[in-house]
Amino acid sequence: MRVAMIGAGYVGLVSGACFAEFGVDVCVVDTEVSKVEALRAGRIPIYEPGLDRLVEENARDGRLSFTTDLAEAITGADAVFLAVGTPSRRGDGHADLSYVFAAAEQVARAAKGPLVLVTKSTVPVGTGRKIKEILRKVRPDLEIDVASNPEFLREGNAIGDFMRPDRVVIGAESERAFAVLRRLYRPLYLIETPIVQTGLETAELIKYAANAFLAVKITFINQMADLCEKAGADVHDVARGMGLDGRIGRKFLHAGPGYGGSCFPKDTLALARTAQELGAPVTIVEQTIAANDARKEAMAARVIAALGGAAQGKTVAVLGLTFKPETDDMRDAPSLVVVPRLAEAGATIRTYDPQPGHARQMMPAGVHFADTALGAVEGADAVVLLTEWNEFRALSPQKIKAAMKGDVVLDLRNAWDPASFREAGLTYQSIGRQ
Ligand code: NAD
Ligand code: UGA
Repeated sequence: MRVAMIGAGYVGLVSGACFAEFGVDVCVVDTEVSKVEALRAGRIPIYEPGLDRLVEENARDGRLSFTTDLAEAITGADAVFLAVGTPSRRGDGHADLSYVFAAAEQVARAAKGPLVLVTKSTVPVGTGRKIKEILRKVRPDLEIDVASNPEFLREGNAIGDFMRPDRVVIGAESERAFAVLRRLYRPLYLIETPIVQTGLETAELIKYAANAFLAVKITFINQMADLCEKAGADVHDVARGMGLDGRIGRKFLHAGPGYGGSCFPKDTLALARTAQELGAPVTIVEQTIAANDARKEAMAARVIAALGGAAQGKTVAVLGLTFKPETDDMRDAPSLVVVPRLAEAGATIRTYDPQPGHARQMMPAGVHFADTALGAVEGADAVVLLTEWNEFRALSPQKIKAAMKGDVVLDLRNAWDPASFREAGLTYQSIGRQ
């Protein structure tokens, strides 16, 4: 089989490389010339564990290629996937569908014969139908089937999530589209992955419902953490006690500084806006968005409070800047709120992140980037653990104490052992624990 993947971002690149690994011929297209050149030269523009090897091996074996020429990519393709960005539209929070519609139109203009156009980008309910209209207008002569195949991979674990997903969702209206997608995902049938076959609108909504539900779940445990602090309870045990109930589940019940990333913030906002417009507001999601925004601000206030109420003249070491470990992605990371607030309050900020590439361009002027975690901690009045990279878990509290000037430690991910930090003479605070 042959597939064209439009967009060489996180989703396009990972999906393209994984389909190639399944034995499919994949051509990935991107408009960004430098990205395509880098990929052709074997350089991966993003940090995603295992992706470099997968791309290298499949490119070498001739199953994975990269181009800026969309017409070349879609020639002979059984399916063309749209994996372009759908960021928040400035001002109103709706998903910006301009990249999706532009790419769909480009595909229609370049198509030489019937094909199946599959939306992998996360798009609001009703988008597939709009794409159908565009295709009909641009190429009334051609049979182009539209399908929705939302992607559920997580950054940092993207290849595992793609290769062993909990489910594959296929929304379509023709047997040809279902058949092409079932053939593509055949290796997953063999490992008994559930396939949800449904209509276009339902597939589109499943994606938003899943992301929004996870965002609500995280926000719920974050608010429970606040309650635990007031009530003398331990959020870790509350989450465990809740999560062992099979109806609730243990995953996504880790209290923290608020969710970030390229998807939860923008997708919750887009779902809330679509639901309002359709006259069925999802108020629980609206409240989640507000609570999560407020939480990031509250984390900065918490650090200032721990410094005795004033950050002026104090040095704060921030460990971890990306929105989660094992990625270099900074989109909507809690650090984008916490660090500027501390800097505005007069603190000197020293940071360390194992993947600081994007962070360097996004932090306020004057923020120092150290080469190691202990280097960042050097001379700090307070240490804030903001992203739980594995290498931070192994840090010795004694070494942290020895490197610091002060003794305040705020573990905003509950990644460290409170007792050993207190034994080392540190004033240790975490989230939702005493
Ligand atoms: P991204 O911004 O990393 O990549 C999008 C790529 O598309 C860019 O490289 C851009 O240059 C390219 N592009 C835009 N228009 C194009 C065109 N007309 N032709 C060719 N290339 C074009 O985005 P992403 O993070 O991969 O997300 C893509 C979509 O997948 C979004 O809708 C997102 O919500 C969804 N999604 C993302 C993730 C994730 O973990 N990042 C997971 C699931 C779903
Ligand atoms: C998320 C979803 O998990 C994927 O299924 C989905 O495909 C993707 O969004 C998307 O649509 O793009 P991702 O954003 O890569 O994936 O990362 P997550 O692991 O979900 O983490 C998101 C945020 O929630 C991070 O800031 C993380 O620190 C936070 N989080 C997660 C918590 O605070 N607590 C938790 O228990 C879990």
